[in-house]
Amino acid sequence: MKILIIGGNGTIGKVVTNYFSDKNEVIIGGRTNGNVSVDIADSNSIKKMFEQTGKLDAIICIAGEAKWADFNELTEEDYYIGLKSKLMGQVNLVRIGQNNLNPNGSITLSTGILADDPVVKTTSAAMVNGALHSFVQAVALEIKNGIRVNVVSLGMVQDAYEKYKDYFPGHNAISMKKAINGYVRSVMGKRNGEIIRIYI
Ligand SMILES: NC(=O)c1ccc[n+]([C@@H]2O[C@H](COP(=O)([O-])OP(=O)(O)OC[C@H]3O[C@@H](n4cnc5c(N)ncnc54)[C@H](OP(=O)(O)O)[C@@H]3O)[C@@H](O)[C@H]2O)c1
Repeated sequence: MKILIIGGNGTIGKVVTNYFSDKNEVIIGGRTNGNVSVDIADSNSIKKMFEQTGKLDAIICIAGEAKWADFNELTEEDYYIGLKSKLMGQVNLVRIGQNNLNPNGSITLSTGILADDPVVKTTSAAMVNGALHSFVQAVALEIKNGIRVNVVSLGMVQDAYEKYKDYFPGHNAISMKKAINGYVRSVMGKRNGEIIRIYI
């Protein structure tokens, strides 16, 4: 398979890339590194990226940002970071990317546990994750050519434990093997419109 992994050099992305690179052709997308340059917050950048990749069998996005801050400190502009990057960035990947997939291809998005189990400072991040869960369930009803769209929603992963542990008191870190398997389930399985939750 020819697989595009946006964010393929990130904390989660690099282990997922490592897994799929064994038996597939993997193209990594990112703003500052990778094989193709893309900022998912900019739909023109997404269009230009697909001109370079050609037709694909799978698109995986393990990228997208939202601002973390106390509710009373988040400005309206702060919310637009998450809306433009993590939410519309991934919606636009499906809108535009469907035309760059071979029949029966798949698109896998990324959200996270905050959609179901938010912690403080995440009104923006939790909100966009929840919106993406609803989007994926709805778009699966309409997308054509046998294309499947799923979303992987992970808890705090082992490799990010030091960075996030103080934000997630009492949470168990998800092993990188379990994280990889979320993406494998989406790409190699047959389910469509699934929210693949891996929280324990
Ligand atoms: N870490 C966790 O425990 C965890 C748990 C659940 C969900 N998540 C979610 O999973 C995603 C990845 O997390 P991570 O911890 O692996 O993050 P990370 O280490 O910061 O890696 C993110 C990757 O995405 C790329 N990226 C970021 N913004 C981009 C954009 N606008 N356009 C294109 N590429 C972009 C980055 O490369 P460039 O900077 O070069 O663009 C980087 O390679 C995030 O959305 C995060 O919220 C993470």
